[in-house]
Amino acid sequence: MKRLVVISLFTILFAAFIVVWNYSYQTGLEEAYVPIETQSHVDLIPSETGVFQRSEFALDYANMAVDESHERTLKTYYNNRAYHGAPPSIPHPVKDKRTMGGNVCLQCHQNGGFAAKFNAYAPVTPHPEKINCKQCHVEQNTQSLFRGSNFEKITVPKVGINNALPGSPPVIPHQIQLRENCLACHAGPSAPREIRVSHPERINCRQCHVPNNKVVTDIGIFKRNDND
Ligand code: HEC
Ligand code: HEC
Ligand code: HEC
Ligand code: HEC
Repeated sequence: MKRLVVISLFTILFAAFIVVWNYSYQTGLEEAYVPIETQSHVDLIPSETGVFQRSEFALDYANMAVDESHERTLKTYYNNRAYHGAPPSIPHPVKDKRTMGGNVCLQCHQNGGFAAKFNAYAPVTPHPEKINCKQCHVEQNTQSLFRGSNFEKITVPKVGINNALPGSPPVIPHQIQLRENCLACHAGPSAPREIRVSHPERINCRQCHVPNNKVVTDIGIFKRNDND
């Protein structure tokens, strides 16, 4: 009787040993892996991620020939705006007067390109997600004021003088709000000549270019809010 107990105890222990050993052997064969978290806990800062919004086109921009006969200059760029940073007016006819724009406008303004009927390159919108275009962009009805006023445009930041030393990266002389998407304005055939970047392929713009938090104008120096 005693022997039977010892033998069955031994059998049970041996079976348990085989099960445990087998389990640990099988798990040892599995490939090692690092569990990937599907959700990031890092809050993305919109003004910083915007820099990469058009990165996929950076190399195309770098290899694109410049069409000098259809270049824009900063002068014509500013002429189409009531003041620095104001939404430009729509300088071309709009077929359907009653739409807000959206997809129709994005056909030309999402990625730009030459529009033969306007004999110009369509400027790329820095904000394709704001689809009610005509909430902010209105058609031009006249080139003159319908009533005189003493409104003066604020002085625009100057370009070409924003670097500390010759050859060092210029500071960004403008705010970042609504200007997160650098390549939309600074690259491609519709970018004004003076601000077309020579290195669109260095996509992490803000690695080297820092915002200037002082604005120098004719009427004084203003300090910007850090969150701009
Ligand atoms: C067929 C292509 C095409 C369509 C569609 C189109 N645009 Fe344009 N848009 C252009 C071109 C080309 C220019 C540049 C004109 C120039 O420089 O003379 C332009 C210029 C502009 C500008 C001035 C940008 C600047 O930097 O000064 C605004 C604003 C604009 N369009 C808004 C719109 C809106 C809003 C719609 C939709 C209702 C629209 N466009 C539809 C081709 C188009
Ligand atoms: C909430 C207002 C608002 C809406 C909606 C809006 N825009 Fe703009 N847009 C602006 C402002 C403000 C600027 C000038 C930005 C600056 O100079 O910093 C601008 C600039 C532009 C420019 C010129 C970029 C450049 O080179 O300076 C284009 C092109 C443009 N918008 C197209 C569009 C199109 C197309 C739509 C619709 C899909 C649209 N916008 C919707 C406010 C708006
Ligand atoms: C809505 C169009 C627009 C966007 C978006 C934009 N810029 Fe600009 N940038 C301009 C204009 C226009 C100027 C000329 C000064 C002015 O009018 O503010 C300029 C000037 C500059 C200059 C000075 C160049 C010189 O030669 O002195 C730098 C540097 C610059 N921008 C960097 C950036 C960076 C980096 C980003 C992205 C975070 C950016 N810009 C986004 C329109 C834009
Ligand atoms: C690795 C650093 C670096 C990165 C990243 C970088 N830049 Fe620059 N940037 C410079 C330097 C240095 C200069 C001055 C070049 C000179 O004086 O020859 C410059 C000059 C400029 C100018 C003045 C015009 C010109 O081309 O000389 C503009 C506008 C500009 N950068 C915009 C941008 C934009 C937009 C991006 C992102 C697509 C960007 N930069 C990424 C270093 C950088």
